[in-house]
Amino acid sequence: ATADLRIFLDTARGVAREAGALIRAAFDGRSHAIDFKETNAADLVTQTDRAVEDLCLRRLAEAFPEHAFIGEETTSAAAPAARTALGDRPTWIIDPVDGTMNFCHGFPFTAVSIGLCIGRRPVVGVVFNPILDQLFHAAEGLGAFVETPAGTQALPLSPAAVPPTLTTALLATEYGAGKEPHVLEPKIATIRRIVTRPVAGRGIRSVGSAALSMCLVAEGSVDAYYEAGIHAWDVCAGIVIVREAGGVAVNWTPPAGAAAVADEPIDVMARSVLCVRGVKGAATGSQAAAQAALVGQLRA
Ligand code: IPD
Repeated sequence: ATADLRIFLDTARGVAREAGALIRAAFDGRSHAIDFKETNAADLVTQTDRAVEDLCLRRLAEAFPEHAFIGEETTSAAAPAARTALGDRPTWIIDPVDGTMNFCHGFPFTAVSIGLCIGRRPVVGVVFNPILDQLFHAAEGLGAFVETPAGTQALPLSPAAVPPTLTTALLATEYGAGKEPHVLEPKIATIRRIVTRPVAGRGIRSVGSAALSMCLVAEGSVDAYYEAGIHAWDVCAGIVIVREAGGVAVNWTPPAGAAAVADEPIDVMARSVLCVRGVKGAATGSQAAAQAALVGQLRA
């Protein structure tokens, strides 16, 4: 029910603020002891990732002891058989520091990302960048907002016309931590296609945080973002924020026999995402067609 979503959202906002204070206090540039996951030199983890995840799991479990939890660091450290599978009961999906590499290098795009799935569907999302002091939040049916020291604004920030075609789009993507050929090759092929005339998109940005890239789509600063190889904790919260701002969020790899893009469900465990900006409540015909066209061009 909506009242429950409001409680879940408000609790997650409080936890994100508390977690963000830990990130902010530790954000001092280059003094972090770094560990590497699964011998991957681009997949970093610090004491702050672990401390923030512990805090989030503790606070949310105190508030909602009957819920399930999936955290990036807990999951990465567990043997595959001991990892929590996403089921139908309410499940919090947490990335304590999304943009860990940015955090380690002092690049100010780093955020705690807290999402909630019910029946495997993302319904609450909070993404807090404590360095730039921007807290993005959304819950299904309640809209998407950003809180800054200047106040709270609904998303998107400047409701522009329908999303553009690829040739006039500003896009965001990442090379990502995973360098396996089956993950990297399609990304490189798509970037090559996007930057090659005559189709060419206007530009490509890589900010180093999937969650914040999705918030850029929700606020309308970039037109679309896609990535493969990411995990549920990178995208769960962002999916809700994009959708509640009027955008679409689907898997980059299309599901078999998919319905129209506007009705396509997303599988948060499927390791890919593609989202396109929009305006909530806009004359849906032309907006939905433009969103579907851009989704098609970026998937091709
Ligand atoms: C990473 C970021 C990055 C994406 C990587 C993720 P992390 O998350 O979201 O943008 O390209 O694939 O792993 O490891 O910093 O939480």
